Formats: sequence, structure tokens, C-alpha cells
Amino acid sequence: MGLSLPAGFTLDGTTIHHRIAALAAVSESPAPVVTRVLFSEADLAARRLVADWCREAGLSTRTDAAGNVFARWEGTEPDRPPVATGSHIDAIPNAGRFDGVVGVLGGLAAIEALRRAGFRPRRSLELIVFTAEEPTRFGLGCLGSRIMGGALEPAAADRLADGAGKTFFEWRSGAGCPGDLAGVPLEPGHYAAFVELHIEQGPILEREGLDIGVVEKIAAPAALRLRLTGEGGHAGAVLMQDRHDALLAGAEIALAVEQAARDSSSPDTVGTTGVFRIGPGAINSVPAWAELEIDLRDTDLPRREAARAQIERAVAEICGRRGVGFALETINADPPAICDPGLIAEIMSQMEEIRRNRRRRCSSRTMVSRAYHDTLFMARVCPVTMIFIPCRGGVSHRPDEYAAPEAIETGVTVLAASLAALASET
Ligand code: GLV
Ligand code: MN
Ligand code: MN
Repeated sequence: MGLSLPAGFTLDGTTIHHRIAALAAVSESPAPVVTRVLFSEADLAARRLVADWCREAGLSTRTDAAGNVFARWEGTEPDRPPVATGSHIDAIPNAGRFDGVVGVLGGLAAIEALRRAGFRPRRSLELIVFTAEEPTRFGLGCLGSRIMGGALEPAAADRLADGAGKTFFEWRSGAGCPGDLAGVPLEPGHYAAFVELHIEQGPILEREGLDIGVVEKIAAPAALRLRLTGEGGHAGAVLMQDRHDALLAGAEIALAVEQAARDSSSPDTVGTTGVFRIGPGAINSVPAWAELEIDLRDTDLPRREAARAQIERAVAEICGRRGVGFALETINADPPAICDPGLIAEIMSQMEEIRRNRRRRCSSRTMVSRAYHDTLFMARVCPVTMIFIPCRGGVSHRPDEYAAPEAIETGVTVLAASLAALASET
């Protein structure tokens, strides 16, 4: 198949970059920091802004009960499963402006450019803005796509509570989405394909001087919460041999997490103890309790589960030896996703055509995604893949996160060509 971009296709780079800057200003923290936690004032304002831009672009919008927003360009054969793209606009505390946003505003820019060039999609095209890809509010990432993909029961989703005990149901009702979540999960085959544009959030493309990474596999996390109960006491008076220090048990466990990941045969196994709280938290008091949250990821499920079993054995051994009680809870343990080879081949062939037509350089490779994305859950609904663009130093989840304007424009061009090809398929 030849290049699917219509002859008059041109990107409006100015608008894309202007919108990224405008969205970055809608934040709970002062620039250059971006913080937009689900259903905060900033998140609600950002959602309104993006929905307005979608409607200005001539798309019809609807929001489901989970707060996922769908902007649709009706195809000439609207009864066929649509082709979808999209990402998220929520941002963790102290984040940058590109994570997720490039996929949402880039998806919109791709659709607008196709419309301007007179393209008529056979299949409808939908841009999805997913609810809470980031786990900040409820401790669970990809909330919107997780429900959509049938990986989280609606009733369980509604019971999720934030640190103050306010539930997802209460939050979404306050945000104007009080409907029944039962209508959110999608049947497999609902979409013909889903392709997400995203910054790489790692250093590989930049190091290798490449423009595009097409994702073959997405690593998935197991998130564990561990509560340790030791024995507190006076830091001067309790003799060392009598101690049951919860922090020290936790410290050994954090090292065991590192060891379990290092013992794996693959660099795709990674383990992080990202939360470590202790109490009572006084310099002259032996830590009586500790709470750890552990994130363990891999692209291969048996390998990740082997590392998880090693961690569980270490927890039991360390706590037994130190006389510290423990309760280990699995927050989530998602299976990794394998991307669709046919979709990857289609995107590769569109890039070949873009190079041949000298539109852009488009040097590329296939790669794994070590971060998770909404695509992980869309893989339960339809064939998926992702288009990665380089970001400076591989930095993400930080205010200095940066993707160059040309890198974004290349990503949007490849996305537009891919959407055009997929939307033209019979
Ligand atoms: C998503 O932000 C992740 O933690 O991979
Ligand atoms: Mn993120
Ligand atoms: Mn993201």
C-alpha cells in the first residue's frame, strides 16, 4: 500500500505547540511544573479546554460515566468499527508538559490536518482522552482504560477511595459524570485498532539518533503494598538485641526488591520501592511501623511473577528473623501486552512511504515500552501499538521533560499517515 497521507497534507505546527503550552499553564503548581490530578480544578479546566478544541475542529464529543472523553470524526461507513487514538492529560505532581499530552493534542492535530487536506475516512476516527492514566488520586493507574478494557469491575472502581476516603463515585459525580459505570466496558472488537502517540520516557531513541519507536510489547506492573508492624520504644533505652525495628525490616526488603529484579535474566525486569513511610517519626523513637509500596515490572509475565515470588519469600524471611509482623497486599498485577504485528507493519510501511516521498526522515526501530500506558488496557479491546518519539535525556515525570517541536511533528505525521491508512481499510 502507498502513502496514505493525502497530497495536500500539511501540519499546523504552530497550533500544536501553542496548545501544548496553553495546556501546561492549566496546572495546580506554578510553571514550569505541571500537576493535574484527576478531577482537580486544573484537570477539569484542562478537560474543558481540550473538548472545546475538539469541537472547534468539527468533532462531536461525548463523555462516558468514567470521565473518558471521545471526540469523533464520522466516517463514510460509520457502522464499521472505528479506528482510535488518544492518551491522557492528567499529570503526576511535579510533572512536565508532554507526557500524555502529546498523544492527545498530537492526535487532534493529526485529525485536523487530515480534514484540512480533504481526507474522508471510511471508518470513523475517535480521539480518546482517558481518565487518570496516572495513579495519583486512587493509587491505581489507567483507571479509565482499565474499566473500558474490562480489567476492573465497575462496582470495584466506584469503591476506590483516595487518601481522604472520598470515592471514585463521589469524585466523578462531582465532576459531572454520575452515570452507571456498567456502560463503560467495551466489547472486544469495538475498535478496529488503537494507536497511541507518546514520548518515549526513556533514552534509547535519542541515544540512537532515531525519530520514531514503534512499540512491540508493553511492560506491566505488579503494585504491592506492604505494612510492617514492629515494636516502638525509646531510642536510648531499648537495647539493640531487643529491637523489632520496622524501618530496618523495610530497608532490607527494599534491597531484596532490587536484588529480585537484578537476579532476572532480562533488563526488562525492574523493581522499585517508591513509597516508604515510617512512624511514629521521631528521632528518639524506634520505628514501630512502616508502609512500603513496591512496583515490579516486566514485559514477560512468568518472569515478573518469579521475581514477585522471590520478593514474597524475602519478606517472610526478613520479617521472621526480625520479629516484625507483615501484611502484603496486591494493589494490581496486570499482564503485559503484546502489540499487533500487522499494525506495526502498517506503521513501518507508512514511514517507508514518508521517507520515500521525502516528507520527513522518519528513522525508526521497534522497541518495548517500559512505562505502562492506556494502550495496555486497550489491547483487551482491539489490536494496538504505540508510536514513540524521543524526549531529551529520556527524562519524564519531571518539569524539565522536553520533546523537540520537530520530534512532535514527525510523530504526528506518522500518526496521521497510520490513522489514514487504518481508517481507509475495508
Ligand atoms: C506511567 O506513568 C507509568 O508509571 O509507567
Ligand atoms: Mn506518566
Ligand atoms: Mn503517559
